[in-house]
Amino acid sequence: MIVTASAPGKLMLFGEHAVVYGYPCLVTTVDLRVSTTIERTQSGTIDIAPSLPGEAEQHYLFTLDEIVQSNVIFPKAVSFVASAIAHFFRRYNVRSGLHIMTTGLAKNYGLGSSSAITVATIAALNALFNVQLSSREIFDLAFAVVLDVQRGTASGFDVAAAVYGGTVYYSKRGDIIEPLELPAPSFIVGYSGEKVSTTDYVEQVRRLYQQMPTLIEPIFALMTTIVEQARLALHAGDHAEIGRLMNINQGLLDSLGVNTLSLARPIFAARDAGALGAKLSGAGGGDCMFAIADDDARGAVITAMQSAGCEVLDVALHTDGVCIDT
Ligand code: MEV
Repeated sequence: MIVTASAPGKLMLFGEHAVVYGYPCLVTTVDLRVSTTIERTQSGTIDIAPSLPGEAEQHYLFTLDEIVQSNVIFPKAVSFVASAIAHFFRRYNVRSGLHIMTTGLAKNYGLGSSSAITVATIAALNALFNVQLSSREIFDLAFAVVLDVQRGTASGFDVAAAVYGGTVYYSKRGDIIEPLELPAPSFIVGYSGEKVSTTDYVEQVRRLYQQMPTLIEPIFALMTTIVEQARLALHAGDHAEIGRLMNINQGLLDSLGVNTLSLARPIFAARDAGALGAKLSGAGGGDCMFAIADDDARGAVITAMQSAGCEVLDVALHTDGVCIDT
């Protein structure tokens, strides 16, 4: 039997960084999907072949013992997939030779995350071994894997987006996960062209928080208010209110020190061209920003973001969560 599961990437909308400390955030999914195909074999080994579209696959071979030992550090290229298998085998007490192919995204915009490949892998194993995990159980296991690989530096919001799909309200490090019934948000998403390490930026904010807790704590509290109000505004489809909240959230992210010129340029260019709001998405330092505009300003905003050095991405938002494809 062969099973393929795919899971979506994500766009963080409101509440990044604060969410690391248990505050709420809002995240939506993008239609950039990663996939895992798994086949059971008699070989007694785990053969993992990660590939990117258009590239030859490479093989990483492990014995079953290597996979289930808890102290093994897996090669970076397969760390999330190998760790997902290890956690799954240990928790559900199954063992089998496997051949696994994973397909990532052709270009890494910081939207398709390692969390999505972890979720796809667990969903495929779930189907293959007929364990009948619920969405909540897939989330719990995938989040444990991500925390393990990233040594605790993760909030889990992207795991929830990959599992549940659509737009998700996420709080208390996963104790509260609410998929929202909304009109699909129509943001304009731009890639700054700059790549940075999320972990470094999370650590940078953590240091600032430790140095100045009395200043940073109220910033996180304000971000919480923004998330709560943005949830209502998204629900009402109130673009003007969503835009205002994006701008205020952006100001607070700037005060945390995660805004950079490559993000600020397209953010200001979008606003100057008539966007109702614009902000960065994710850890900051680079990767993506997004803007919201009424239909009549949309074309000008796209052109302005491109002139400010951004690649405007043709992505649909609020798309399906993890699913079995075959
Ligand atoms: C990164 O996309 C978002 C952060 O809040 C980190 C996290 O939540 O894991 C900065």
